[in-house]
Amino acid sequence: MIRRASAVLAAGLLAAGSLAACGGGGGGDAGSGDDQIVLGFSQVGAESGWRTANTKSIQDAAAEAGIRLQFSDAQQQQENQISAIRSFIQQQVDIIAFSPVVESGWDTVLIEAKDAEIPVILTDRAVDSTDTSLWRTFIGSDFVEEGRKAGQWLVEEYEGTTEPVRIVELQGTTGSAPANDRRDGFAEIISADPKFEVIASQTGNFTRAEGRQVMEAFLQAHSDIDVLYAHNDDMGLGAIEAIEAAGITPGEDIKIITVDAVRDGMQALADGKINFIVECSPLLGPQLMDLVQRVHAGEEVPARVVTEETTFTQEQAAEVLPERQY
Ligand code: AHR
Repeated sequence: MIRRASAVLAAGLLAAGSLAACGGGGGGDAGSGDDQIVLGFSQVGAESGWRTANTKSIQDAAAEAGIRLQFSDAQQQQENQISAIRSFIQQQVDIIAFSPVVESGWDTVLIEAKDAEIPVILTDRAVDSTDTSLWRTFIGSDFVEEGRKAGQWLVEEYEGTTEPVRIVELQGTTGSAPANDRRDGFAEIISADPKFEVIASQTGNFTRAEGRQVMEAFLQAHSDIDVLYAHNDDMGLGAIEAIEAAGITPGEDIKIITVDAVRDGMQALADGKINFIVECSPLLGPQLMDLVQRVHAGEEVPARVVTEETTFTQEQAAEVLPERQY
């Protein structure tokens, strides 16, 4: 069904978030009256280099596909995303896509979208609703597998040693799918050997500033940290600042594993300050627009589309850095 809005976006409707129209050259509202697909997209925020690259990928791909994008930045607040989704429903956009800040608490607004017959696509992050009819498809990484890859590297790195390995963990946003899953996947692998001990674990909310603050507190509380596992590059980079400020050598005195593989992280890996990065690709835009077009055309789409990803050692980072897109 092709939907077209009848009203311009009411002023102040999205006071809690920020909304901007991007992409193709439709009119000033969702109801431009032509056949262009209108996609309402609610983004988590701008918390990390990954997120910036993800936003650019989505905006570029929408423009390329001729899809009119109503883009809303939730500033890492779930209530802003719920307001944005309600606004998209009111505008009667054709498709709603969003990257949920946290996993829980979506049923009510997703039922509202279903009742309005607007298909929903989950992008990047999952929700924990049991009713899978509330969305058509979910495109994004396997975060549990990312956590496992981080754990596997650690197991291999410390193979043959029996000494305790004391780990601190910088978790992503509390309640978010990547924080839950990267924690669980990592724990699943390291729990097979009792020498691995997570001595402290706290959220750094996926930001560089909070990564630094939390690492400072870890260093004050513990004098014998062997390993830092950070759920994203940005928190790892903030932590490196704290480690260096404490006169400790990152990558040597404290081994560091992060997730994402954005350019700044890869540079730190190539420089020897990070030891291993698990890739999480932010370049979801082209596949998302393909799914939008297929759902809009009434085609069947797979319930789950998993992003292809790899891992990087220091040597591999130095090799691929010159061509890294983000
Ligand atoms: O949901 C993906 C995660 O969100 C990225 O790994 C992290 O950098 C971002 O904030």
